[in-house]
Amino acid sequence: MKKQKIAVAYSGGLDTSVIVKWLQEKYHADIVTVTGNLGQKKELIGVPEKAYKTGAKKVYMQDLRKEFVEEYIWRALKAGALYEHTYPMATALGRPLLAKALVEVAIREKCTAVAHGCTGKGNDQVRFEAAVAALAPHLKVLAPLRDWEFKSREDEIEYANMHGIPVSASKANPYSIDENIWGTAIECGVLEDPTVAPPEDAYQRTVSPEKAPDKPTYVEIEFQEGIPVRLNGKKMDGVALLDQLNEIAGANAVGRLDLVENRLVGIKSREIYEAPAASVLHFAHRELERMTLDKEVAHYKAKLAQDYATMIYNGLWFTPLRPALDAFIHETQKTVNGSVTVKLYKGNVDVAGRSSANSLYNMKLATYTAEDTFDHKASEGYIKIFTLPVKTYYQVNKNGFSKKKKGIRGKIKKTLKN
Ligand code: ARG
Repeated sequence: MKKQKIAVAYSGGLDTSVIVKWLQEKYHADIVTVTGNLGQKKELIGVPEKAYKTGAKKVYMQDLRKEFVEEYIWRALKAGALYEHTYPMATALGRPLLAKALVEVAIREKCTAVAHGCTGKGNDQVRFEAAVAALAPHLKVLAPLRDWEFKSREDEIEYANMHGIPVSASKANPYSIDENIWGTAIECGVLEDPTVAPPEDAYQRTVSPEKAPDKPTYVEIEFQEGIPVRLNGKKMDGVALLDQLNEIAGANAVGRLDLVENRLVGIKSREIYEAPAASVLHFAHRELERMTLDKEVAHYKAKLAQDYATMIYNGLWFTPLRPALDAFIHETQKTVNGSVTVKLYKGNVDVAGRSSANSLYNMKLATYTAEDTFDHKASEGYIKIFTLPVKTYYQVNKNGFSKKKKGIRGKIKKTLKN
C-alpha cells in the first residue's frame, strides 16, 4: 500500500508538535507541516527547525501577512465587523486563510488528508473544516485533539519527552494564546472564572492603563475608500501600518477586551483579547463613516455588520454570501475618504478631529449662527405630514385608551380637555 501523506497545520506549539508524531505513528504516514505567518511575533521563532526535529518530512513556512491584511482584515474593517459588537475577530479571520494555505500545500504534495490542532469544543475546528469542505472536499480532515488518548497537557508533555519532541519552556504558560497582526486571544487558566479580573500577566502586547504614559498620544489616520493608507501623514502598506499602530496603541493600553461570548458550538466562553490597532482602526473608520455615509446607507450597513461578523465568526468565509455582502460593503466605501485624528490615552480612544473631501456635514446647514441657511419655516409643513399617521391613529383609537374602561376614560378625557 502506498504510504499516506498528511499535511498538518503546524504552529510549533505543544499540541501540533505532538500531532505530527502521533499521526506519523498511527497512520504510518509522511507528514508535511504548514505554518502560516499571519504577523504573530513570538510564535514563529525556530518553528521550521522544530518541525524537522519532530519528524516532519517537509516543512512549509508561508508568509501570508499581505494577503491576510488586504483580503481578509480590510474587508472586515470596511464592514465594521465586530462579533457581538466587540470582538474584531483576529482568530476567526485568520483560520480560513490558514486552511486555504494548508489545502494548497496538500494538493501540491498529493496528500490524502489534512490535520489541524483545534479542540473539539471550539469555533476553530468549524472554521478550518468549513474552509476545507469548500476548497478541497476530496481531502479527509483529521482532528487528533477530538479523538486521541491524551487527557491533559501533562499527558502530552510525557508523550513529547518519550519521543524526543522539543517542548519549549513556555509549557509553564497557564494560558492558551492565539496571536496575529489583527489581535491576540487569550483563554484558559484563571480566565475561565468570569468573576475574576484578568491578571496582568495574561496580557501579551498592551501595557496596563496605570503604566501607560501620562500624556496623550495623537495619531492621524488617512483612509481611502475605507482602507487606512497613511499614518501621521506617512504612506504605508497595510502590514507596516498595522505593525506600527499596534505598537503605538499597545503602549497606550488601548485594545484590551474582556468578553463572555457565545460560541458557535453552543457554550458561552470567557476570553480576553488584545487588539490595539484593530480597536483604533474600527473606531476611526466609524468616525469617518459618520461624516461621509448617507444616513440610510449608514443605518442599513450597521445592521449588515452584525450579520457579516456572525458569518465570519461561524467560519463561513468561503461561502457565496460573503462576496455578495462584500460587494455591498465595497460600494458603500467609495466615499469613505479622509482623515481622522485619534487621541490615545490610558486605554481610551477619543476622536480629536476629522476631515473629508466627501464630508456630508454642512456647517451652513448645521450652524445656529447668522450664517445659517436652513429653511426653518419649511419644518412646519414637514412635521404636519410626518406626524399625520400618528394623529390619525390616535384620533381613531381615542387617544390610545380602550373603550371598555369607560369610567376612567371619561375622567381622563375631561382632564385632557382642561
Ligand atoms: N474565541 C475566539 C474565537 O473563536 C478565539 C479562539 C482562539 N483562542 C485561543 N486562545 N486559542 O475566534
